[in-house]
Amino acid sequence: MLAIIGGSGLTQLPGLHISRREVVRTPYGMPSGALTFGQLDGHGIVFLARHGYGHTVPPHLVNYRANLWALHAQKVTHVLSIATVGGIHPDMRPGRLAVPDQIVDYTHGRETTYAEYGNGDPVTHHDFTWPYCDEMRQRCMAALAECGEDFVAGGVYGCVQGPRLETKAEIERMARDGCDMVGMTGMPEAYLAKELGLCYAAVAASVNWAAGRQDSALTISGDQIEATMAQIMERVRRVLLSVARL
Ligand code: HPA
Repeated sequence: MLAIIGGSGLTQLPGLHISRREVVRTPYGMPSGALTFGQLDGHGIVFLARHGYGHTVPPHLVNYRANLWALHAQKVTHVLSIATVGGIHPDMRPGRLAVPDQIVDYTHGRETTYAEYGNGDPVTHHDFTWPYCDEMRQRCMAALAECGEDFVAGGVYGCVQGPRLETKAEIERMARDGCDMVGMTGMPEAYLAKELGLCYAAVAASVNWAAGRQDSALTISGDQIEATMAQIMERVRRVLLSVARL
């Protein structure tokens, strides 16, 4: 079964014919909200709003372990994350969608593993060379192509701590590091999915130029982000119908 984790701008999924909602408790605490089960274009899926249905959970306080555990416990095998990002690379203009293939993690202080160390269990190191599941990435890209989207087929997602936006110097450093886009929620989500054996990929939606990328005198306007987000999420919904079908 496919799960969709909706990010900022996608706290609900119009077009989803809801059959039930379920509050799932996990050994790691409560997920961001109830899991919503339903049919998308006739295909059964589960939807979860990463920041809660009222968008009240900031990126650094999302219980990523509980979210993915809850989905896994409901027999989810594939996860599509919708993530809003700021564009660093010139190709990542606001309004553009991308299917990143790499991650650089700048977060700190988040719970990053299900492994319980200190109780005698041996230390394990999961391979994370390719953070995203290729099968899910291909499915997303096929859906984007079907919808006529001029998307970017790859890219490095730099995950920052938030909730603040970055300084111009931080974005310049991220560009030197090879990051093409910046967001706040990609990690540890992608790694936890890997630990659980979930086939996980993200569709990133650029909703603004990252700090200093457009015109260094300009600051990032929340209103502008909201407007781009509203416009782009209409398109994302169409892509999701396609992903559910494929
Ligand atoms: N920075 C970090 N996260 C974001 C941004 C940004 O500019 N835009 C959307 N998510």
